[in-house]
Amino acid sequence: MTAFYKSMNTDRDANRREKWKRHREQTSDFIREVTDLISRKGSIAVFGAGNCDDLELELMTSNYDKVVLIDIDKEAVKQGISYLPEVDRQKIEIIETDLVNMSTFREEFSKKLEENLPKKKLSKYLRSIQLKNEEFHEAYKGAFDVTVIAAIQTQLFYNEAVFILSERGGYLTTDEIKDITLDLVYVRDQVIPSFISMVYDCTKDDGYMIQWTDIIEINHSNVAMLDEIEKLYTGKDRINYVNKMCNSYGIPAGVNSYKLFYKRINSEYGKFLMRYWRWPFADNKHYFVVGLYGQKGV
Ligand SMILES: C[S@@+](CC[C@H](N)C(=O)[O-])C[C@H]1O[C@@H](n2cnc3c(N)ncnc32)[C@H](O)[C@@H]1O
Repeated sequence: MTAFYKSMNTDRDANRREKWKRHREQTSDFIREVTDLISRKGSIAVFGAGNCDDLELELMTSNYDKVVLIDIDKEAVKQGISYLPEVDRQKIEIIETDLVNMSTFREEFSKKLEENLPKKKLSKYLRSIQLKNEEFHEAYKGAFDVTVIAAIQTQLFYNEAVFILSERGGYLTTDEIKDITLDLVYVRDQVIPSFISMVYDCTKDDGYMIQWTDIIEINHSNVAMLDEIEKLYTGKDRINYVNKMCNSYGIPAGVNSYKLFYKRINSEYGKFLMRYWRWPFADNKHYFVVGLYGQKGV
């Protein structure tokens, strides 16, 4: 685990759990609705549990035999569950793992930049890598009745990769940096589908999948969308509108994940649900979030 995620998880508003109450109500509604739909309540796994500020943990511990909280930052999760009574905590398993094998990439990419590897070779390296946690994937195939992806998507890979490039890529020209950034975009666009596929594989065949993700950072040029969307009456119109806004303002990893997820669940009427809401991530950063759930598609 690196300082990069550690600082994100520790550098947070002390009242964040309170400020995320509304956000948590939305995520809890999803968990509640899926819990009502699924007959077998063996295990529920959360990918990106972190500080658990977006999770109503008792809702899971009181309904499932086992609650598996997965994150690269075990300390954040331990802290996140510390307020629970012992009886609830006993149902929780924490898995500390790097879900996209970022640590190998971090080490390799940093080393190559430190050695001033020429741009051409860097591009070749980036175009050839596959960021996967094969060990986790193999170990947990078909393991969970319900899987939950808790806004981890936009944190996977890209921001840290750009940060490493900015820290260590000083020897490259501006044009070379632009090219390498495009290579990083290429990798990002591989990471999300492979991550969604892994979560899909870890879900039992008749299980349910839930995800929420930040898809648009709200700012003065797009804030009107929150009112505009309310004026649309059909689900289809709303989806079309959100897709249009994503084209202009979308956070690529979030948008990609939302579209791919939709393809992996049974999208017949009544078999899935999609909702949108505002997430006050920090005082100066609010996101438009899309949440979806559905039965694993066949
Ligand atoms: C935006 S947070 C999600 C919010 C979180 N549920 C909470 O309430 O704090 C994303 C989480 O993903 C985790 N994460 C980021 N990259 C990861 C990776 N490669 N493997 C596992 N977890 C990762 C971070 O440590 C962080 O806790």
